[in-house]
Amino acid sequence: MKNTLEGKVAVVTGGASGIGLAIAKTFTENGASVIITDLQQENLDKAVAVIGKDGIGIVANVSKLKDMEAVYQQVMAKFGKLDTVVANAGLGDHGPLGTITEEQYDRTFNTNVKGVLFTVQPAVPLMKPGGTIIIIGSTGSVNPPRGMSIYGGSKAAVRNFIRSWVQDTKGTGIRFNVLSPGAIDTESLRNALEKAHGRDQVEAGVKSMGADTPAGRIGTTDEIGQVALFLASEASSFITGVEIFADGGLTAI
Ligand SMILES: NC(=O)c1ccc[n+]([C@@H]2O[C@H](COP(=O)([O-])OP(=O)(O)OC[C@H]3O[C@@H](n4cnc5c(N)ncnc54)[C@H](O)[C@@H]3O)[C@@H](O)[C@H]2O)c1
Repeated sequence: MKNTLEGKVAVVTGGASGIGLAIAKTFTENGASVIITDLQQENLDKAVAVIGKDGIGIVANVSKLKDMEAVYQQVMAKFGKLDTVVANAGLGDHGPLGTITEEQYDRTFNTNVKGVLFTVQPAVPLMKPGGTIIIIGSTGSVNPPRGMSIYGGSKAAVRNFIRSWVQDTKGTGIRFNVLSPGAIDTESLRNALEKAHGRDQVEAGVKSMGADTPAGRIGTTDEIGQVALFLASEASSFITGVEIFADGGLTAI
């Protein structure tokens, strides 16, 4: 059984940047046709240029079921099949208890929880045995940092979604897994550090996060791409219903 996606068709939400873009690129490099979705066409066009000729970008908001149904209609019209869905689009706001607003809660849960549900639900009936669903979680599902309770709660919710979904879909041959990264060097991580501690503290913040990790560093988007490739491919054929941490050992301590 090979760690390849030759001839497969995959959808990656939030694929215009960061982890989603790296996953999409890893998938096309390993033989898949990849449809990325995101909020702005301009960013999708830039990302498709990075992914290569087997990439397509479609504007769709994951928290709108109609948008996701339209994506799958286009995928089926063009490719006639769907093998893998990566529910990656997500965000996180800093907000200690006492400061959390309704707006923050709605934004986080509408993207990270409602968005995952309505990325996955319309996809499942289109998939055949061997199909794979990968939800990008976070170590925040078990160990949310201070001030990140809404984010941690949202990532714990999707981890629990799949515990039930593997039972709902028993016998279909479709696998559901959560891939939970630790700190990964992305623009969004660096922006969050800048917002919290100031621009001149970003490098120090990255170093300190690395120092707190058994691996001695934070991760790269390519490392997450490789784990997603494994979970999408036949190489992981007996793995379903789990949360895999790609976190340099962070959740072990
Ligand atoms: N970077 C990290 O350290 C880290 C760690 C753990 C988990 N994660 C998770 O990885 C995923 C990707 O994060 P990233 O760091 O690459 O961030 P990112 O901001 O670079 O990428 C997220 C993408 O999702 C898109 N997006 C946001 N809301 C959307 C919506 N409603 N519909 C469609 N697209 C939407 C954004 O425009 C963006 O392109 C997220 O689920 C995040 O929670 C990231």
